[in-house]
Amino acid sequence: MRKDVFDKLMRLPVGYFDRNPAGDIISRVSYDIDVVSTCMSTDIVQILTSLVTVAGSFAMMLYISPILAGIVVITIPVAIIYTSKMRTITQPRFVNRSKRYGIMNGFVEEMFSGQKTIMAYAYENQVAEKFGQINQKAADAYYDADYYGVSIGPTVGSINNLGLCLIAVFGSFFYMMGRISLGQISSFVLYSRKFSGPINEAANIMNELYSALAAAERVFTLLDEAEELADCEGAKELSSAEGNVALQNVYFGYEKGKTIIHNLNLTADAGKLIAIVGPTGAGKTTIINLLMRFYDVDAGRILVEGEDIRNYTRKSLRGAYAMVLQDTWVFKGTIFDNIAYGKEGATMEEVVEAAKAAHIHSFIMRLPQGYKTVISEDGGNISKGQKQLLTIARAMLYDARMLILDEATSNVDTGTERKIQKAMRELMKDKTCFVIAHRLSTIQNADHILVIDHGDVVEQGNHESLMRQKGFYYKLYAAQFE
Ligand SMILES: Nc1ncnc2c1ncn2[C@@H]1O[C@H](COP(=O)(O)OP(=O)(O)OP(=O)(O)O)[C@@H](O)[C@H]1O
Ligand SMILES: [Mg+2]
Repeated sequence: MRKDVFDKLMRLPVGYFDRNPAGDIISRVSYDIDVVSTCMSTDIVQILTSLVTVAGSFAMMLYISPILAGIVVITIPVAIIYTSKMRTITQPRFVNRSKRYGIMNGFVEEMFSGQKTIMAYAYENQVAEKFGQINQKAADAYYDADYYGVSIGPTVGSINNLGLCLIAVFGSFFYMMGRISLGQISSFVLYSRKFSGPINEAANIMNELYSALAAAERVFTLLDEAEELADCEGAKELSSAEGNVALQNVYFGYEKGKTIIHNLNLTADAGKLIAIVGPTGAGKTTIINLLMRFYDVDAGRILVEGEDIRNYTRKSLRGAYAMVLQDTWVFKGTIFDNIAYGKEGATMEEVVEAAKAAHIHSFIMRLPQGYKTVISEDGGNISKGQKQLLTIARAMLYDARMLILDEATSNVDTGTERKIQKAMRELMKDKTCFVIAHRLSTIQNADHILVIDHGDVVEQGNHESLMRQKGFYYKLYAAQFE
């Protein structure tokens, strides 16, 4: 089930992860599946063995005295009606309990990732208090669910004991009428105990079953999430992209009714360096999301090699780009593995070459274990700039015709940035590059500069022509250099 959920997560669109907190997803994968698994491995087995005992003893009861057996049996519907009634009461409470766990996990995850900020703002007490509240709600939800859950067992037990009373009453009656012997009554009572024992036990674990059902519901909701739409019928493989990209009348918004990109037009010919600049929140990263088809355009179209990108398979389209994102991602593993991530079966020479071009080689060589040094989770033991350089080396190794750099060198000093750019130019000679940069000094030699503001292209051209216009770009530039 975990594997299924994980595979599913790999097929979900980027938007799902933008909307759902990581902690809640993790809670479904760990806590909820644990609950289901405990239920499957102990409770279900117990119920199956119980069923055998119940059936056997009932057969014996029927054999001894069908009438008394009939009397015992009438108590069963009562128990069934009661437990199914309880289900409607407890089930939503167990769902709530799982949800509360998800919220709590989400909070813990968020707090750990922001731990330094919390310390810097001296928010420890508030955070602890907030956690106290969230935890209390989770605990209350737990209590609430169990309060009703655990009462099922004893109640069903009472109903069964009622059955025993009936046997005693009717048994003695039949004995006086001479229709049954004392021996038969006593063995009947023994079998009826055997009969109701497992039913009691089953009722006792009923609340575990309900909690497992609630957990399973959360897991199945995740499994039922809409996946990334399948590639269109007869989708082509984009195998040999030259690097011609065009956006035509593109409109896009993350939410309905809130358009972020308005009528964007852009042509990037093979081998050209396209720079996208603009203030924070202008929509630069959004354009990259569209190019990679992490999201689909609302209107207009994006062409690669003259063909709408929706006619290509997503995999091959994404494979045609190498990209370095604004938020770098490294994983726990050696530096070699982290760089070689982009290319299957990369050799040491290739990795070293890429690292040299990204100007991270000498740093790596200074580490005691060189390329075999293990980077901790999320790169805790290397600097932000070094992390960026690693991801750049990774992209350099990945041989694609189109390259996307979203603020790829924002954490690197200007000197190193210049050197990397020189190396990149070399490497990207005939590749199409999309470069997003806040430092305008880095994109002056771009073939085409797109100036974005509020999702609109307000100006475009090369550096000289834009400077001559003395418009938005000029102001941005002046603000940085004056
Ligand atoms: N997943 C999302 N869901 C909803 N709105 C989003 C999402 N991502 C971004 N936005 C909104 O879209 C707008 C453009 O965001 P975008 O990330 O493209 O900006 P940007 O130009 O890359 O900014 P920056 O220079 O800070 O990286 C912003 O107003 C932002 O609030
Ligand atoms: Mg951005």
